[in-house]
Amino acid sequence: MRISVIGCGYLGAVHAASMAQLGHDVIGIDVDRDRVSTLQQAKAPFYEPGFDELLSTTLATGRLHFSTDVADATGAVVHFVCVGTPQKRGEYAADLRYVESAVEALLGVLEPGHLVAGKSTVPVGTAARLAELVGGKVPGAMLAWNPEFLREGFAVQDTLHPDRLVYGLPAGADGERARALLDDVYAPIVAAGTPQVVTDHATAEMVKTAANSFLATKISFINAMAELCEATGADVKQLADAIGHDDRIGRKFLNAGLGFGGGCLPKDIRAFMARAGELGADQALTFLREVDNINMRRRIRMVELAREVCDGSLLGKRVAVLGAAFKPDSDDIRDSPALNVAAQLQLQGAVVRVTDPAAVANSRRSWPQLDYAGTPEEAADRADAVLVLTEWRQYRELDPVAFGEVVAQKRVLDGRNALDRDTWVAAGWSYRALGRRAG
Ligand code: UDX
Repeated sequence: MRISVIGCGYLGAVHAASMAQLGHDVIGIDVDRDRVSTLQQAKAPFYEPGFDELLSTTLATGRLHFSTDVADATGAVVHFVCVGTPQKRGEYAADLRYVESAVEALLGVLEPGHLVAGKSTVPVGTAARLAELVGGKVPGAMLAWNPEFLREGFAVQDTLHPDRLVYGLPAGADGERARALLDDVYAPIVAAGTPQVVTDHATAEMVKTAANSFLATKISFINAMAELCEATGADVKQLADAIGHDDRIGRKFLNAGLGFGGGCLPKDIRAFMARAGELGADQALTFLREVDNINMRRRIRMVELAREVCDGSLLGKRVAVLGAAFKPDSDDIRDSPALNVAAQLQLQGAVVRVTDPAAVANSRRSWPQLDYAGTPEEAADRADAVLVLTEWRQYRELDPVAFGEVVAQKRVLDGRNALDRDTWVAAGWSYRALGRRAG
């Protein structure tokens, strides 16, 4: 099938290459010339394990192309909309301008029987409005919402082997036609027995925001428990293990620490609250404000903890920050808790050196005022404290004995509860973490 993918960010670029991998002829469209030429040269414009290989193999088949011109989407039968929906400046609501302009642009190439399939995360009600626009301008063309649940770091795996397919379809015969097209697109995934939820536009839109709100709530729940653990001397890691044994709760997403960041969870829960307010249902989501508050408090607590271990003052103290990305296996620094803490430490007078296996270049562009290092050893040279703020494998596997040689003071703050406390303590380090006793 001929497919177009509008927007070649994390979501769109991986989706385009994955659809070519499934055997389709795919054109990826993006307004960013540099991004398009990078992709066309089989180079990934971001760090994503496995994506480079997928891009090279699919480009080599001749089934995948990239372009800046929407006219190149002519002839495609299914058009995926994968553009960003960032938070509006100074507001909680999502900025829909990219989604709207993508659909407007597609109106010029759509033909009767074609399908626009939205993948971007949008406020509930958007799909119905856009479906009217599409059907009004190009009679016989349809619009479905087909949310995507990929995690950065696992984007290729999540796209080719999703845990569910959600189709938000128009009513009646159009819905049947749209479903058949999506089933054709995802044929191998459907054949593998992947669960399908076939529903209306509004439910499909809400599935995505509800899922992300649930995940954010789970993280903030355990972080709230971490606050209580700190007040009582209990251990949040053991607490999470113990409650996680209950199948109904589950251990996943119960890792206490610096909390969630990234391009999705923070802005999605805020946009959900804003949309609930517009719909007169804001009371239903006031708990998400608390979820957001707990999350942001963790960053402040981390800075306090750093000040405590630095004998009550950060002024002139050398602090090493290991990790800048919002999570491991990613170079994404959007709303990164690690960088937020690093910046606060510097503003309070500390001499901060940040390192990250993949995100230094992006960090330097967005936070040029911070100092960067290529390796943990370089960052920690003569440090008064070492903060592990993103749990990259490289940091989890550091040898505390050898690493102890480079620092001035063996003080480690484990912002992600990712280090083996006993090994670090045995190597002479003082160990502090959120929600756990000092070691
Ligand atoms: C998320 C959703 O998981 C995905 O389904 C959706 O499509 C997009 O948003 P992503 O932003 O890639 O994916 O990251 P995720 O792995 O969910 O982690 C989000 C944040 O939560 C990270 O900052 C991570 O460090 C933090 N986190 C995660 C915790 O603090 N504790 C945990 O137990 C799990």
